[in-house]
Amino acid sequence: MTNRSILTNTLQTLIAKAIDDAGGWLGFDAFMALALYQPGMGYYANDSLKFGHMPAVAHSINGAQTGGSDFVTAPELSPHFGCTLAGQVAEALQATGTDEVWEFGAGSGALAHQVLDALGDQVVRYTIVDLSVSLRERQRTRLAAHACKVRWATGLPVRMRGVVLGNEVLDAMPVKLLARLNGVWHERGVAMHAGRFAYADQLTQLRPPLEVAGSHDYVTEIHPQAEGFVGTLADRLEAGAVFLLDYGFPENEYYHPQRSMGTVMCHRAHLADGDALADVGEKDITAHVNFTGIALAGQDAGLEVLGYTSQGRFLLNCGLLDRLQDASLAGRAMAQKLVNEHEMGELFKVIAFGAKGSAVWEPMGFSAGDRLHTL
Ligand SMILES: C[S@@+](CC[C@H](N)C(=O)[O-])C[C@H]1O[C@@H](n2cnc3c(N)ncnc32)[C@H](O)[C@@H]1O
Repeated sequence: MTNRSILTNTLQTLIAKAIDDAGGWLGFDAFMALALYQPGMGYYANDSLKFGHMPAVAHSINGAQTGGSDFVTAPELSPHFGCTLAGQVAEALQATGTDEVWEFGAGSGALAHQVLDALGDQVVRYTIVDLSVSLRERQRTRLAAHACKVRWATGLPVRMRGVVLGNEVLDAMPVKLLARLNGVWHERGVAMHAGRFAYADQLTQLRPPLEVAGSHDYVTEIHPQAEGFVGTLADRLEAGAVFLLDYGFPENEYYHPQRSMGTVMCHRAHLADGDALADVGEKDITAHVNFTGIALAGQDAGLEVLGYTSQGRFLLNCGLLDRLQDASLAGRAMAQKLVNEHEMGELFKVIAFGAKGSAVWEPMGFSAGDRLHTL
């Protein structure tokens, strides 16, 4: 038995006990939290590589091999992502009179590296907040050149001033699953069946935020944790702005009657599958983001919504093309994936907030093609 399978077995035993302790049924959000974040064992808490290029293009970044990874995020794909976003960060720091950056879910540290390289003295301090303690060593190595500015916080800080960044963090937050079966809404959770994890449904008063037309069977998600996270950010951010980038849609697309299978997806070795109950701890589990819910959660908690658009539009507005003029052909090809509609340009979105009570300003990333009206 490999170390990895011993870890997976231990995690599965621990989750099976949690199900038993809860009376035989655990909400999917609780299952997902254990599968991803159980200290030392969960997918983000164990020491597997996770982020990086596909093995075919594996190469060494700061001495770290990138082969054997599960998925590639925008800052891993191209350094032009972080350099371009840095332009927006610089503008936000100036507009809000702040000089710090707070990054949630910093992964391998790639985005921090790009932003710090690009902004130099404009950033006085860069704080990383990540649920995964195991990623910290990787981030420390990656960010060695900026060691004097970077610090880590274990939980959400009580007070923050500055620009908050989160790339692909909301999609990693546990979701609740809802299933409409024969016209009746259930919460979908996890139980044990013949020694294996199996979905089990319970009647619920919970509903999607929009009524889903039709009476066909329908599985979807709601996102209380991601929305709660934005509400807490609102309370803690005294001055500054927030930029959250992720894949997802406005609620009318999210809860479209034809999207009847939900959006929960697993990622391993650059392959996607929909079976969140198999190989627990060995693969990422994610759900798309309902950006209407995120915008409303921010607004309800007092944040100003400053803009919402596609990642492609945002990066072009922030001057990606100008930055590519001196790039190599290979570098341009990778950066193009960030904005191509059939790659990351359209599915990924950017939403920005201003701190409670702050003056409204127009970030450069939304100067053309703002889609706030679609939320
Ligand atoms: C898909 S990874 C993205 C990593 C990185 N931002 C990137 O783009 O490569 C999601 C990250 O979010 C972190 N995360 C999830 N929920 C979080 C929370 N509530 N606070 C801070 N980090 C969180 C996970 O530990 C993980 O590092």
